Amino acid sequence: MLIETERLLIRDLRSTDDAFILELVNEPAFHQHIGDKGIRHLEDARAYIQKAGAENYERLGFGMYLVMLKDSSMAIGICGILKRDFLDHPDLGFAYTAANWNKGYGTEAANAIIHWATTSLGIQTLSAITAVTNPASVRLLEKSGFKSHGEQYFPGRKEKLHLLMIDFSTEPNSTI
Ligand SMILES: CC(C)(COP(=O)(O)OP(=O)(O)OC[C@H]1O[C@@H](n2cnc3c(N)ncnc32)[C@H](O)[C@@H]1OP(=O)(O)O)[C@@H](O)C(=O)NCCC(=O)NCCS
Repeated sequence: MLIETERLLIRDLRSTDDAFILELVNEPAFHQHIGDKGIRHLEDARAYIQKAGAENYERLGFGMYLVMLKDSSMAIGICGILKRDFLDHPDLGFAYTAANWNKGYGTEAANAIIHWATTSLGIQTLSAITAVTNPASVRLLEKSGFKSHGEQYFPGRKEKLHLLMIDFSTEPNSTI
């Protein structure tokens, strides 16, 4: 998969993205808002890439993707679609290195992935879950058209999470 937006390129994860993934998943905000995945070495990062990338692309037709700046080819984050057992619909996931926050990149990538999911994969409804202490994530999702469905407890999570959804079956005129 390859998506080009005004400022970004979004492509399949590759094993050679290991050093970037190792850095990203160990940023303090990633640990705080998403969790510590226990990825400490390049080989752990490659295992994550295999699972979140190639295995999911093969099994589901979607997964997580690398987000790069188009001008410099610098990796800035990941964005994509996950399928969790405890959610009825696939959900949008994303994370960016702190140096690249608040420049609209997260929203630009999310809009592109949502458009791709609906037009190429035929996905009608997407969920998203975020920590209730993560207003930037909620703001990004609301800018992309997601609506709040309140805070809920989910299996295996001690804290309540904020559930948001975007449903194209009831929003046929959406411009996203
Ligand atoms: C959440 C995250 C993905 C946002 O990415 P981003 O590229 O900065 O997003 P954008 O720039 O497109 O939009 C962020 C919005 O949140 C707003 N925002 C930032 N910090 C905020 C805060 N503390 N309170 C409220 N709004 C905030 C920004 O002002 C911006 O809104 P605006 O365009 O109306 O000004 C990024 O912070 C991140 O990677 N965090 C760590 C990992 C993570 O939390 N992932 C999400 C898990 S669900």
